[in-house]
Amino acid sequence: MNENYKPISCDINSRSCCSSFTEVKLEKDFKSHWDKAYERTETDKLGWYEIMPEPSLLLIDKCKLSKNAALLNVGAGASTLVDELLKLGYENIIANDLSSSALNKLKARLGEEKSDNVRWIVDDLTRPTVLKSLEPIALWHDRAVLHFFNEKKEQEDYFDLLKKLVQTDGFVILATFNLNGATNCSGLPVHRYNKEMLQEKLGASFELLEAFDYTYTMPSGSLREYVYTLFKRMK
Ligand SMILES: C[S@@+](CC[C@H](N)C(=O)[O-])C[C@H]1O[C@@H](n2cnc3c(N)ncnc32)[C@H](O)[C@@H]1O
Repeated sequence: MNENYKPISCDINSRSCCSSFTEVKLEKDFKSHWDKAYERTETDKLGWYEIMPEPSLLLIDKCKLSKNAALLNVGAGASTLVDELLKLGYENIIANDLSSSALNKLKARLGEEKSDNVRWIVDDLTRPTVLKSLEPIALWHDRAVLHFFNEKKEQEDYFDLLKKLVQTDGFVILATFNLNGATNCSGLPVHRYNKEMLQEKLGASFELLEAFDYTYTMPSGSLREYVYTLFKRMK
């Protein structure tokens, strides 16, 4: 573990300890943290690994997107969603992550031919450089990424980017730990949400089409409580 990296030992309900840690330490260490998480653990042992990303696929199916629609999976990690979208025939998939190690694992699993059909963007969602200049996208998919942004400024930057990129009539899937969910993940504090909080962040131009709570079983057998939401941008 990175020597600058402190595991969570404070009471998460007392935000002060973790907030100052986030401000002071994490700013420069996030990329290193995530690279190491992917480098030291087999993908299917990661605490967020899904053999089949069923809840995401269920919501994506409801969007009735064309096969050439631009689908952006933010903080994709090494998740199996890209594999499944390719199998379904989607041709315009963009996979983003802060961690190049994560995306390299995903590329290796897909193999050269399939990974050549995906656009790969290593970039920070809260300080985007490359992502900022993407074309309008039809789907923003986030599972287990937004909840790591504890600072108001990070959340604002994340939602500013989302609103800049998602086209009118485009869709947003946000899956985060819900209010009964764990208070940390991968040794980091998380900010939990319910559907109303996500609606407030997105604003009135986004209409909530569907929301459900979902209990995810980690490879260790532990349970994690998520909320899945599907929004459509109306204007
Ligand atoms: C818990 S994992 C979830 C990965 C994937 N979405 C999934 O469902 O398996 C969180 C992911 O968010 C990525 N991440 C964290 N902070 C990020 C940031 N600022 N910008 C882009 N990706 C980030 C991490 O590298 C990691 O892959």
